[in-house]
Formats: sequence, structure tokens, C-alpha cells
Amino acid sequence: MDSIDQLIAGLAEQAEARRAGRPGVAEAQIERACRRMQAAGYWPAKGAEEAYRALATWLATVAAGQATRGLLLWGEPGRGKTFFLSRFCLAARTVRALQIAELYQEWGRAKVLTWLEQDILDVVPDDYYRLTLDDLGAEPTGKRFGETTEILADVIDQRYREWQRRGWGGATFFSTNLAPPELADRYGERTTSRLAEMAAAIHLDGPDWRME
Ligand SMILES: Nc1ncnc2c1ncn2[C@@H]1O[C@H](COP(=O)(O)OP(=O)(O)O)[C@@H](O)[C@H]1O
Ligand SMILES: [Mg+2]
Repeated sequence: MDSIDQLIAGLAEQAEARRAGRPGVAEAQIERACRRMQAAGYWPAKGAEEAYRALATWLATVAAGQATRGLLLWGEPGRGKTFFLSRFCLAARTVRALQIAELYQEWGRAKVLTWLEQDILDVVPDDYYRLTLDDLGAEPTGKRFGETTEILADVIDQRYREWQRRGWGGATFFSTNLAPPELADRYGERTTSRLAEMAAAIHLDGPDWRME
């Protein structure tokens, strides 16, 4: 099985686990997460109830201290990806992929990766190594001195190592408008299957909230 098949199998397995209600949290905990989302103004869209439930299940897992990996929210624009990340995925830092690509142009690869991996405190707060990375795939391919680099592929690999080292403490929360096969096209299958391993992938569908 090559890695794109593994990725798709992984996504199917996650969906299956959700359907089978195998997340390890009780119904009451999921309902509590739903109420918390609604209290923050985050509502289920028509036709996107399953995605909403998947989000609530993930949140309940976090609240129960059982989360082991981050989140990969994918889907068309206006589906509430950034909104969810900003309200419910509290990492010490939030960066946009575009911002990383711009820094790459200015600084080069090594300095960008060092900046992202900063480790400058002796006593670090809980969420210090967690990162929110918004709008993966919206950045142009990095160009510097005639060289082209998918700097975000390097960043994903770095975040994967962080997650391997620290588990939940090094989780990353991603959003992207790209579907998994498009991610694989752009960043390579190896990087994309790492993404699927380190983050629970949830497809946010339903209507565009900005058009409502
Ligand atoms: N589940 C939701 N409930 C209520 N409003 C929402 C929801 N999802 C999105 N919105 C509204 O739509 C806007 C756009 O959502 P956003 O998260 O920026 O979309 P995306 O990142 O998927 O392109 C948000 O700022 C918010 O006002
Ligand atoms: Mg967004």
C-alpha cells in the first residue's frame, strides 16, 4: 500500500471510529462540548451535522484529557475552520501559512525552522509547544535566490517530530482549503501521511457561512 492509500485508509478509519462511537468519551461529554461550542456562537450548519459532531467529539476528548493528536480541518472556504481553531484550539502561537512563506523569503529555511522551534524558556507553560497553523496551502511556493521550496512541507515535518517527542503537548492544529489528494500533490505523499497521522482529519462541509 503506498502512502496515499494509507492516508485515505486512515481517514476512512477515523470516520469509522466516529460512526462506531469509539472515541472513548461518553455521550454526555460530547453533548457538553456541543453546548460549549454553541455558547461561543459556533452552530451546526444544515447538512454538516456529522462534521459538527466530530468536532464536539474531538473537543470532548481534549476536555477529558484523552487527546493524543492535533486537528486537520479541511474544506471549502467559509465553513468555520479558522473560527473553530481560534476559539477552541488554544495553542501558544498561531501562524498563517502565508506568513511562514513570507518569512522564508526574508530569512531562508534554517532561520524559519529555528524560529518555529523556539525553546527559550526554562519553565514553559502547558501549551508552549502547541501550534495553530492556519490556511495551509494558501501560500505561494517559496522562492529565494532562484530556488523554490515548499517550506510548509518542512514545517509539517518539523511539527511531526515535535509531536513524536511530546505527544499532545506538541500537537498542531491545521486548517486548509485543500482536500487530502491536493495536499498530497502539493507537499508529497510522505508529508501528507504524516499530517494524517499527527492530526485528526475532519472535513467541514455544509454551506458557506459568509454567504448566509
Ligand atoms: N459553525 C459556525 N457557527 C456560526 N458562525 C460561523 C460558523 N462557522 C463559520 N461562521 C462564520 O463564518 C465566518 C467565516 O468562517 P471561517 O472560520 O473564517 O471560515 P474558513 O476558515 O473555513 O474559511 C466566521 O467568521 C463566522 O462569522
Ligand atoms: Mg480560514
